[in-house]
Amino acid sequence: MILFQQSNALRGFLESQKAQNKRIGFVPTMGALHAGHISLITQAKANCDIVVCSIFVNPTQFTQASDLETYPRPISKDIELLEAHACDVLFHPSVEEMYGSDLSKDNSNDYGSFVHVLEGASRPGHFDGVVTVVKKLFELVRPDEVFFGQKDYQQCLVVQTLINRSFNTIKFNLCVIAREADGLAMSSRNIRLSEAERILAPQLYLALKKAKQLWTVETWKTASNEALKEIDSNAFTVEYLKICDQNTLEELSHFQNSAVVVLVAVQIGKTRLIDNILIDKD
Ligand code: PAJ
Repeated sequence: MILFQQSNALRGFLESQKAQNKRIGFVPTMGALHAGHISLITQAKANCDIVVCSIFVNPTQFTQASDLETYPRPISKDIELLEAHACDVLFHPSVEEMYGSDLSKDNSNDYGSFVHVLEGASRPGHFDGVVTVVKKLFELVRPDEVFFGQKDYQQCLVVQTLINRSFNTIKFNLCVIAREADGLAMSSRNIRLSEAERILAPQLYLALKKAKQLWTVETWKTASNEALKEIDSNAFTVEYLKICDQNTLEELSHFQNSAVVVLVAVQIGKTRLIDNILIDKD
């Protein structure tokens, strides 16, 4: 694997690969890699000739300074993992390299009404930060295909909108959520869970499965209430559990036999967890 910390060197290398008609797959991450990230690398390897992974803890998408400060950064372990999975290129820039001295973010806010709900409402400005860095990375890497996890479903919609508007040659791949054996969605933040919290955390997935099971024309009315009962209200503070249209993220107040997504966000102790489940059209 070749490691680049400077944009110019990466650009030069990728240009030489493109000149040889190599197809470039790109997996942007913030590091602290786990099997979920690796599943994106594996999918990129299957579709493309050269796989570029970026590891960059993007300051502009954090809404809490403490979350940014304590975000895990085990770079040596990440490099080992990427090498073990035959990633071709790692881009690991400094904040200065990505932003210079200007940490302002793109807040043109035209990435769709769904930017402002759910995660956008809980973490104002978060998606502006995501769009800012993803745009910079896409401009630099100029990939043929990109790979994003369904784990961050709303982020996928925002990035798809960005691609439709500004990068319409890039193919977007939505990758399934990698889960632990007990159903907990893998996340870089899971290592912050205490032993007791870790035992309770799979309740999120149980709740999502319950909502999915009850999303039928006969039982839809109780679906979100019954789902919420799967989550121990003494341990978790539920920020939202919503059944929404898969494309618009508009919350559904009636049964709809179309593509639906159930999304949940909770706080447990010091850790915030999100998860979701798709309910596709019959
Ligand atoms: P990060 O949280 O590191 O996630 C990088 C990619 O891995 C995202 O596309 C995310 O959805 C995916 N991912 C995370 N957990 C996953 C899981 N359990 N299964 C499958 N995929 C999973 O998302 C970001 O970084 C940042 O916002 C970024 C896009 C890099 C911009 O800074």
